[in-house]
Amino acid sequence: MSHAAFPALRLRRTRTHAWSRALVAETSLAPSNLIWPLFVSEGTGVEEPIATLPGVSRWSVDQIAERAREARALGIACIALFPNTPPALRSETADEAFNADNLICRAVRAAKEAAPEVGVLTDVALDPYTSHGQDGLVDAAGYVVNDVTVERLARQALVQAEAGADIVAPSDMMDGRVGAIRSALEQEGHVNVQIMAYAAKYASAFYGPFRDAVGSRGLLKGDKKSYQMDPANALEALREVAMDLAEGADHVMVKPGLPYLDIVRRVRERFDVPVFAYQVSGEYAMIEAAAAAGAGDRDALVLETLMAFRRAGCSGILTYHAPLAARLLQA
Ligand code: PBG
Repeated sequence: MSHAAFPALRLRRTRTHAWSRALVAETSLAPSNLIWPLFVSEGTGVEEPIATLPGVSRWSVDQIAERAREARALGIACIALFPNTPPALRSETADEAFNADNLICRAVRAAKEAAPEVGVLTDVALDPYTSHGQDGLVDAAGYVVNDVTVERLARQALVQAEAGADIVAPSDMMDGRVGAIRSALEQEGHVNVQIMAYAAKYASAFYGPFRDAVGSRGLLKGDKKSYQMDPANALEALREVAMDLAEGADHVMVKPGLPYLDIVRRVRERFDVPVFAYQVSGEYAMIEAAAAAGAGDRDALVLETLMAFRRAGCSGILTYHAPLAARLLQA
């Protein structure tokens, strides 16, 4: 860019007033772009704060119904539910995932009854149910076996759809699971249940607080690098997305969020499908730590990061800051 046009061009001109800044804004952010992840635990009237996620709690099923009503009042599009399964119900083979009366199914029913207008997304992966904390079944060597896991994931998704989930979201990164889930849903008549594939999910250090919230951190032996992606790779993310779309995903997700906005942008440019990002637990914790340390203003940090997701091409964002952001956007 040359400076020859100055002073005919003064790009600061439209920035002078709030109304003209709003008039030329290229990107919008609204509560309807947000998906609010919520953790579920046993009991009644229970709220359990999570130490590594300050401001986020696990809620009992009756309280999940309240949160669904709160989401509706705030204009939040959808809630995402994750269970903290009681330790006694976790096993090598994750059988509790197929119990039609498990924590997640009860929470889905309660949320849909309390606020049917709010979407309910459920996570398809076995880690909240396994005694070893891996997303699938492991063999004698500790390797997460693909095809046996895929069969179980399809069963799990079906149980969730039967409970009333609107979107099932496989977060496990097994090969072929989207196709298996899609055909299971079709066969059982759940033709309008949407699949949001965690298509490009990276083996990340940003998931720690989430694992505390669902109680899998202490159980997990080893890492998830044999199925979640290497942060070094971007072309592979495009292959993952292409594969999940070919198998019948309605939406694709990139995860984590801010450190992977380049992936969001590339996916958005390559494929004409809705792209989502998950601003994960470690990202939430970083913003909270920055705010607590006085390094930045919480409200401004939250809105700026969420706008960045939209600018990069996201239709929507999963964020633990959803209720705060929605309140700020409504004000
Ligand atoms: C597990 C799952 C994880 C998250 C969502 N689903 C953690 C993991 O893969 O270990 C992370 C979300 C977050 O950190 O907020 N299937």
